[in-house]
Amino acid sequence: MKTDLRNRDDVAKLVHSFYDKIRINEEIGPFFNETIHDWDAHLEKLTDFWESNLFAIRNYYGNPPQVHVAVDQKFHHTVNPDIFGLWLNLWFETLEELFEGENVETLKFRSRKMGTVFMMAIYENRRQNPYDSTAQTKV
Ligand code: HEM
Repeated sequence: MKTDLRNRDDVAKLVHSFYDKIRINEEIGPFFNETIHDWDAHLEKLTDFWESNLFAIRNYYGNPPQVHVAVDQKFHHTVNPDIFGLWLNLWFETLEELFEGENVETLKFRSRKMGTVFMMAIYENRRQNPYDSTAQTKV
């Protein structure tokens, strides 16, 4: 019997299961595995992020659009909408496997919007800092 997400423990369970999938995925895994050196710290930060988002607790103070612009630069502008689509599919799949209810729908809605905002920040950065010949994805 599935329940809705109710607290930080539920968010932590979601985050851990999601990144288990991300890390072994051949397409998207390398972006994370080649960037994140301390997985415990990353999972704690992402639990803070989604707990803040869902339960209006302020314990995350980062700048995710800027972080994803930096990831796109590091990987020679290969972070494209397909990669965001893959991320969202794995996120939705994990949400639906573990939980059901209003907070599941809220997280789907908000993550979809965030994906667009992050991708737009990436495009804006590429416009301001035209990329080099190693780029594989053109705007
Ligand atoms: C809507 C979709 C996404 C959301 C909501 C999301 C959310 C986040 C958040 C909150 C962080 C932590 C930022 C911080 O350090 O303060 C993060 C880090 C990261 N994200 Fe995403 N992300 C998304 C999509 C992606 C995609 C598609 C990629 C693939 C390239 C990606 C790669 C990364 C990496 C590699 C980090 C670690 C960066 C670092 O520690 O230097 N993310 N993400």
